[in-house]
Amino acid sequence: MSNQPTLVVLGASGDLASRLLFPALLSLEYRERLENLRIIGYARQEWTTDQFHENLRAAIDLHAADVDEKYLDKFIERIDFHGGDLSVESLGSLKPELDGPAIFYLALPPGVFADAAETIANAGLADETPGFRRLVIEKPFGTDLQSALALNEQLHKFWREDQIFRIDHFLGKETVQNMLVFRFANRFIEPVLNANHVDEIQITVAETIGVEGRSRYYDGIGALRDMVQNHLIQMMTFATMEPPALWDAEMIRDHKVEVLKSVRRVDPDRDAIRGQYTAGLVDGTPRIAYRAEPGVDPVSHTETFAAVQLHVDTWRWEGIPVLLRSGKRLAAKAHEVVFRFREPPTRLFRHTPLEHAEPNWLVFRMSPSECTELVVRTKQPGLDLEARESVLRAEYATPDDREASAYESLLLDVLEGDHTPFLRFDEVEWSWRIVDPILTAWQRGAPEDYVGGGDGPAGQHRFLGPGHYWRPLLNSTS
Ligand code: BG6
Repeated sequence: MSNQPTLVVLGASGDLASRLLFPALLSLEYRERLENLRIIGYARQEWTTDQFHENLRAAIDLHAADVDEKYLDKFIERIDFHGGDLSVESLGSLKPELDGPAIFYLALPPGVFADAAETIANAGLADETPGFRRLVIEKPFGTDLQSALALNEQLHKFWREDQIFRIDHFLGKETVQNMLVFRFANRFIEPVLNANHVDEIQITVAETIGVEGRSRYYDGIGALRDMVQNHLIQMMTFATMEPPALWDAEMIRDHKVEVLKSVRRVDPDRDAIRGQYTAGLVDGTPRIAYRAEPGVDPVSHTETFAAVQLHVDTWRWEGIPVLLRSGKRLAAKAHEVVFRFREPPTRLFRHTPLEHAEPNWLVFRMSPSECTELVVRTKQPGLDLEARESVLRAEYATPDDREASAYESLLLDVLEGDHTPFLRFDEVEWSWRIVDPILTAWQRGAPEDYVGGGDGPAGQHRFLGPGHYWRPLLNSTS
């Protein structure tokens, strides 16, 4: 037996592995955080390890930034390749190699997650006699509540919950994690984040990209399952959860689940809207309609934009709408979580221009720039009492900082066995419970068209109270 841990990447020749996992692992090499980790690439191809290395170097050339040859060589040396399928015999051939702790990363299509997890176990590889055994599983975790419950049941036949690491890569993003730090490490912020002071929360993940060759996965899945059920709802839990007493994986996840369980049941007709992009000019480039994308059903009703109005029925957030929206082929890339503050009592400024000044906003921005902003009113210099908007901005990173990618941080946490940024099954389950009624309702009818390169479908505005508006997407490029 050995103490040396091994990471087995199943699907090592695939897109996720070459675009995200291996570049992230290489970056951890550069930071000298991989220690004595061994890596085994496992895929169907009958390649030799040398052939795999060659392909990997080409992929890294394409996808990794600032590659330092010295670290690249060291990294490549850690990696062996095994060709094989997902049968007990093939996987079983790994057994003699795994005489210490091991992690199995399923960089595989979602349709084979359950079978792969079962076969790994049936090949005797989940047995922890030689050391811990962990299973890393990507989204989507099921396609609705029913399938998620079934997948979980299947996994739990062979794996304990504490062996399973369910990835939502947004939780590995530094600026998403920064939301918790900003909320809970600054004495003056947390006391005002509640319904007494905030009257709306907006969470936007707008993308300019389309389906980018992923139509086989995306068509029939849509924005609600692809983005809202996981990434946006997760960001909502970070924005609205109660402060945990300790930085402890179970305690943090208990608080997140508390939020999810507090969400009022949605009425799909009132609380959800969907859209699909038509042809348009995105960032100055003409783009085709969703239905014209290769591989998409020409009469597809899959939504490429989803917006949902939720209410977190807790004392803290009583009556406050939490608005989530995400779409593809929009005017700008913008990821942000925004708290809109109530008007101050205006008595003092009645009948002055200040009476109608902009509200205060607290903005956690993940993209395109990474920062936290507090939008406040200050006096405009001059003789008149006029207000202007000032932005107090905390940049997340300077150009010299080498920021960690989401996958770097998540891979390190798996190696260290820290479950904090991974989804416990009850989080997945309760997120599906929120969106399931919408999925059912959306089996009928069709999404509203929106022009590619615009702000999304007009219907998204109907959630907003009088005088309220979605923060403009283009603002986010500032
Ligand atoms: C993925 C979705 O989970 O997240 C994609 O499947 C989406 O459709 C992507 O484009 C967005 O992630 P990021 O890190 O590029 O903002």
